[in-house]
Amino acid sequence: MSVQMHIPGVSDLTTQDKSPFALDQWYVAALSSECADKPLARTLLNHPIVMFRDGAGVVHALEDRCCHRSLPLSAGTIEEQGIRCGYHGMLFNGEGRCLEVPGQSTVPPRAKVKNFPVQERDGIVWIWFGYDQQAAPNGDAPSYPVHTSGEYVWGGDAFHYDAPYQLIHDNLLDLSHLGYVHLQTIGGDARVHMNAEMNTTTDGDNVLVVRHMHGVTPPPTYTAAYPFEGKIDRWQEIDFRVSHIRIWTGGVDAGTDDLRDPNRGGFHMRGFHGVTPETETSAHYIWTIATNPKANHEETLKKVMAQTAFTFEEDKVVIENQYQNMIRFGNQPLMSIHVDVGANRARFIMEKLRTIRR
Ligand code: FES
Ligand SMILES: [Fe+2]
Repeated sequence: MSVQMHIPGVSDLTTQDKSPFALDQWYVAALSSECADKPLARTLLNHPIVMFRDGAGVVHALEDRCCHRSLPLSAGTIEEQGIRCGYHGMLFNGEGRCLEVPGQSTVPPRAKVKNFPVQERDGIVWIWFGYDQQAAPNGDAPSYPVHTSGEYVWGGDAFHYDAPYQLIHDNLLDLSHLGYVHLQTIGGDARVHMNAEMNTTTDGDNVLVVRHMHGVTPPPTYTAAYPFEGKIDRWQEIDFRVSHIRIWTGGVDAGTDDLRDPNRGGFHMRGFHGVTPETETSAHYIWTIATNPKANHEETLKKVMAQTAFTFEEDKVVIENQYQNMIRFGNQPLMSIHVDVGANRARFIMEKLRTIRR
């Protein structure tokens, strides 16, 4: 069931002029670590997809349906050359071409399944969805050097949401909720978060929200992971890029480094948030968290990972609850407050990108 969500000046209706999703984008399909020795089934933007890594180590994405009798290919097995259907054994390569029909000497020309452009970069598997799926992707998938620079240790996971992707965007672009939702991890005094200095800028289809909080008490995750001396200066930089959001947060001992210095020290958490619609009303949230421990790298990463997963579970509870209530109350208008500037800009951009070009 599709639910209209009204934001002033922005409509979320799917009409004949609107796609439910912003297309011509590289979306996050999986973490590289999820594509190992088994097929990975995931519905992305209403397309049931199977992903697999072939014998050469290359990840592919095919429609998750055997062209013979429709068994999901994800029920099959991976071989050196491709994926073998688990019903009658037809073997398909990464382009979706059938290489073998067991017991038959020829392969019928129609024996193929649809494939989708995929690129694996910096530990992330990206998939392209275009308005014209026959057209080549418009450039390479984004890089994410945080995973590969060697400056950070990182880990991640994939969550499923019974809620539309827009509500995850709203949540990530408005971190004022930390003081109410995440008291046990990255939160702290709610007044501090609600009164943070906030600067929102737009560059094309990207939105950057920068928030600073000076002379505040470090929250539990920070003190568990880093030897702060007392009060800290905190920053949150939320970088919205349509298919994903990069969030750089952290803190320095109060009054030391300038929060505008790109090379500032202190404790850093760099979050990568792939928000990939599953359907109009459900989404995949594929995230990683990277940090810069002073010592005990493995142990600190474990702590930060556990607290981040706990934090994101808290968001999931709020967002799914919020969505259920939207269904319960039907099309009620929403209102905006000061913390919604970034979220509203992102909604405006998504609305523009969902417009079908003719
Ligand atoms: S259903 Fe796949 S080979 Fe028959
Ligand atoms: Fe949150």
